[in-house]
Amino acid sequence: MTTTTEPQAAPLDDHHELRRVLGPWQLIGIGIGGIIGAGIFVITGQAAADHAGPAITISFVIACIGCAFAGLCYAEFAAMIPESGSAYTYSYAAFGRVVGWMVGWDLCLEYGMAASTVAVGWAGYFRAFLNDQVGIAIPDAWAAAPINHTTEAGWIATGAIMNLPAVAIVVFLTALLIVGIRTSATFNGAIVLLKVGVIVLVIVFGLPYITADNLTPFVPENTGTFGQFGWSGVLLGAGVIFFAYIGFDSVSVAAQEAKNPQRDLPIGILGSLAVCTVLYILMSLTMTGLANYTTLKVDNPVSVAIDAVGEPLHWLAPLVQIGAIMGLSTVILISLYGQTRIFYSMSRDGFLPPVFSSVHRTFRTPTVSTIIIGAIVAVFAGVFPLDVLGDLVSVGTLVAFILVCIGVIVLRYTKPDAKRPFKTPLFPWVPIAGVLVCGAMVYPLLIDLWPRLLGWLAIGLVIYFTYGIRHAKEPRWKL
Ligand code: ALA
Repeated sequence: MTTTTEPQAAPLDDHHELRRVLGPWQLIGIGIGGIIGAGIFVITGQAAADHAGPAITISFVIACIGCAFAGLCYAEFAAMIPESGSAYTYSYAAFGRVVGWMVGWDLCLEYGMAASTVAVGWAGYFRAFLNDQVGIAIPDAWAAAPINHTTEAGWIATGAIMNLPAVAIVVFLTALLIVGIRTSATFNGAIVLLKVGVIVLVIVFGLPYITADNLTPFVPENTGTFGQFGWSGVLLGAGVIFFAYIGFDSVSVAAQEAKNPQRDLPIGILGSLAVCTVLYILMSLTMTGLANYTTLKVDNPVSVAIDAVGEPLHWLAPLVQIGAIMGLSTVILISLYGQTRIFYSMSRDGFLPPVFSSVHRTFRTPTVSTIIIGAIVAVFAGVFPLDVLGDLVSVGTLVAFILVCIGVIVLRYTKPDAKRPFKTPLFPWVPIAGVLVCGAMVYPLLIDLWPRLLGWLAIGLVIYFTYGIRHAKEPRWKL
């Protein structure tokens, strides 16, 4: 890891230009860095135990299909409009200002909330590592959220003060992002190699110990309640573990820092998604094959799966902890990065104050914006528990994916002559299938979460009508 400042680049015309330094490998690294994290290291076990059993592997296949369709649509847009706003910019282009703003606001649920959620997951693994390997115990009061939410009791005080490790990791990564995109990408690349290496080790050394007993019945019988096992459980499980795939779209926020965005963004988006899909399917099969799914409802299910084998895989335990700690840290990094770049684009279009697109002369990063976003994310991470935040992240992301898929269809008809360096194949079936699969995954989540989503969007509308509507400018991109 390095925290040195980057060499000063040639002077620019204004204080709003980012630095173009990222090539295809770094973009794939950003994708994998943003994808592999709490989803596979934490949520998979809970989703298997509560919803799908061993068939969580099928849930991963379903979620991957939805992401592949959405990923192809993102790739078309990213090559067509290489701006850092991601789904915000694409929706603006397809549906106009108000929908664009609302999608940008919705993306805060994906990027900002994901950073907070994963910071909470990171803190859980970090605390366990300190306890198990170093012998330092962080007291409960400083390692848990002070409030929690349950269906029966609503919001309750837990007696804890705050989740200090979660706050600390957000502060550290915010500082790294300020220092520069090249430094951040190097840090990310090194850790991606480490976390992928750990997952490959678990798969290669774990697969021989899989037992048929753990995988039978593969789809446990439904309990009579929608989503509790059976095929409805597999579908709800897909909605829950969809979280694990979030992040491939963060490649698109690097559009203004990529050397050759029109060629390399599709490579980064689709390449990172392909690598992670293969790893996820094998990893979920390994986990549920090593330990009975009923035992995986814990914060560290990969460790539990390895422990179930006993002595032969004992050596993997500390590596899994290190892989998870390091791996989750890049998800926080990339999520924070994504949020800053989306606000950068929204600010350049006049929807947010200019401070969000003001770039530091030396670091060439949106410094003040990064500090503001880091501070908000740190507060959420320190105060809220993991599950309250996590589902909202998936809902926000799926809504953005659906709009991006519809946007591809709209623009093919409204702007048929726009230059498209990458075209979604099998048009219009791929975007239509993306809408249907992502819609099927978001539906069960919305049954509980629609009031929170609507509340969030209502706040967005108020901000739009008090600020955005008066300050919005013509966007810089033209189709
Ligand atoms: N996909 C990311 C994770 O699993 C958000 O942590």
